[in-house]
Amino acid sequence: KKSEAWSALFSEPMSDLVKRYTASVFFDKRLWKADIEGSLAHASMLAAQKIIGDSDLAAIRQGMAQITQEIESGQFEWKLDLEDVHLNIEARLTQLVGDAGKRLHTGRSRNDQVATDVRLWLRGEIDLIAVLLVDLQKSLLALAEKNVDVILPGFTHLQVAQPVSFGHHMLAYVEMFARDADRMADVRKRMNRLPLGAAALAGTSYPLDRESVAKALGMDGICENSLDAVSDRDFAIEFTSAAAIAMVHISRLSEELVIWMSQNFSFIQIADRFTTGSSIMPQKKNPDVAELARGKSGRVVGHLVGLITLMKGQPLAYNKDNQEDKEPLFDTVDTLKDTLRIFADMMGGITVRPEAMEKAALRGYATATDLADYLVKKGLPFRDAHEIVAHAVKEATSHNCDLSELPLAVLQKFNAAIDKDVYDVLSLRGSLNARNVTGGTAPAQVRLQLAKHHARLA
Ligand code: ARG
Repeated sequence: KKSEAWSALFSEPMSDLVKRYTASVFFDKRLWKADIEGSLAHASMLAAQKIIGDSDLAAIRQGMAQITQEIESGQFEWKLDLEDVHLNIEARLTQLVGDAGKRLHTGRSRNDQVATDVRLWLRGEIDLIAVLLVDLQKSLLALAEKNVDVILPGFTHLQVAQPVSFGHHMLAYVEMFARDADRMADVRKRMNRLPLGAAALAGTSYPLDRESVAKALGMDGICENSLDAVSDRDFAIEFTSAAAIAMVHISRLSEELVIWMSQNFSFIQIADRFTTGSSIMPQKKNPDVAELARGKSGRVVGHLVGLITLMKGQPLAYNKDNQEDKEPLFDTVDTLKDTLRIFADMMGGITVRPEAMEKAALRGYATATDLADYLVKKGLPFRDAHEIVAHAVKEATSHNCDLSELPLAVLQKFNAAIDKDVYDVLSLRGSLNARNVTGGTAPAQVRLQLAKHHARLA
């Protein structure tokens, strides 16, 4: 029995294992819509160029309409024997409309076909992701707006550093997700070019009008080199890289949520619908969603490494290795979309505990830098002021109190220039208000930033 899929050249069929090993239909059928869209654009151009007849085009359109209906209603029979989404759809088309179906593949190869399909599909996904990134930024913006005046101990090395506005802290993430959106737009721009017409690798002898196909598919132009057109998966790597960076931003945020929710901090509460209990410990409420997102970021980073490694040994032009680009790409899209959706919702449901944050800030001498700056304004060199404040902190530590709780007479022992007005500087709020530089944490600055982001996202 000869092989069904190929040609008279094959004298024996594949084993079931080899069939399963080489087939991609059970995952690449996800590309079906893009595949049909690309085929219809190709067929219209073939007819316009008189390479196929108008009646062929009509038959192809009618067959594709029926196939669309079959796939959407779940009746389409995907066959492993037909290897991939492209051969499955083409075979069914020929079954439905005969010779016209067999003419569709004129001037085309699965190599330029699959490169086109993946680009079309991913373009649609990037457009969805762009919306989700805006939703997440809006949700963070709302949380920031509610908490501009809430004071969080800012950390370096996870040690209390200086007080910051909780709103300011949230806007840091808005900046990150805004850059992620920019990166996605940039990937889209380079990706939105047409491989079709490159055929297997060398172009084709038919008088194709590639520009008109690009236009019909909403692409910004054609891939100029046929070898590159069928070999290039940069766009998939770039996309996964942008996705991995976005997931790492999510992961950092997750880590903070987990820390802040721990009893030792108690800075925030996450809405119950995003937490889970324990099967043994009745008191437990765990931030599972944040932890899972942190974990899933590793998975997307893994896909990036997988894809870039997939390319590194490939000579030009197309190699079957490229079939392996699909699962990591699909999983990256799924993971990123779900994560962005869930975070937009979860961040909206966060309640902050300002007292716990302020208490933590006071415990960590968050205003020590402010005391040093105060002494500098009285005329001391910064390095001397730094040393003096270290002594004051030592003193406060030995009394187990904050700098602001040391009596004036005690503070004056460290430097005579210290006066009553020092207590304005030593308060958390005084420290916050003092950082009134562009990009700083003073509430007045945070409100300016909020207005800018609102305008950008409007
Ligand atoms: N399923 C293949 C892929 O995903 C389609 C292209 C196959 N081309 C070939 N010459 N075997 O890359």
